[in-house]
Amino acid sequence: MADEVLTLPERIPYHVAVIMDGNGRWAKSRGLPRLAGHRAGVENLRRILRACSEFGIKILTIYAFSTENWGRPEAEVRGLMNILETVIDRELNQLNANGVQLRHIGELDGLSAMLQAKVRKAIDMTRNNDQLVLNVAFNYGGRQDLLQAIRRIVEDGVPSEEIDEKLVDYYLYTAGQPDPDLVIRTAGEMRLSNFLLWQASYAEYYATPAYWPDFDRDELLKALVYFARRERRFGLVLQP
Ligand code: IPE
Ligand code: IPE
Ligand code: MG
Repeated sequence: MADEVLTLPERIPYHVAVIMDGNGRWAKSRGLPRLAGHRAGVENLRRILRACSEFGIKILTIYAFSTENWGRPEAEVRGLMNILETVIDRELNQLNANGVQLRHIGELDGLSAMLQAKVRKAIDMTRNNDQLVLNVAFNYGGRQDLLQAIRRIVEDGVPSEEIDEKLVDYYLYTAGQPDPDLVIRTAGEMRLSNFLLWQASYAEYYATPAYWPDFDRDELLKALVYFARRERRFGLVLQP
């Protein structure tokens, strides 16, 4: 299976976006608290980052905290904030050494001043790295992304006839980056949950029942094989 993909490098998606779902169910199935599932999810991210480098994926976008996730119990929200902080504290140097360029998509407002400062530092420190771009969607919502773009377009006084898709792209959190080719959702749900609504309009969609902490290199490879077999038509009729 590996050879099949690796001999078709042009069929490796450039940009993969992942809805990392199922941490809570993974924990529950083991009789553990939900936060243990989130911690296991972070551990898994390390494996997936290694696998992305192995397969030649250039951009990985991960959905880590949605604008809707604020509505979870306070202790879980606090735990997720702490996890982000701990990840930055513990992993930043290693990520930097591995050439990972960290980016944040979403709003920093709402995060503690300390966490905001740490996120900014991580972005700044890694900005010239070019092995892999890791977009962390944290306090992200697709509708929020579009709203902030519309607001800034209006604030900049852009004449309506100048508003085209390229301009909107430029105002989104993902400005300057190609759209995702493949969106993966773990834990079986078949919905976008407000993720990359504009950017994923022609992404291939892959859902797997595997919970995120169990989604390992071989699970990613399955998604890549699925992707390599898709015929992307972009609304056209392809020649036989
Ligand atoms: C995904 O796992 C991580 C976040 C949304 C932060 P969940 O916490 O949604 O896990 P389930 O869906 O309850 O299993
Ligand atoms: C989507 O998962 C958000 C993240 C993975 C961060 P959710 O678990 O929040 O989505 P729903 O509630 O199942 O739609
Ligand atoms: Mg979930």
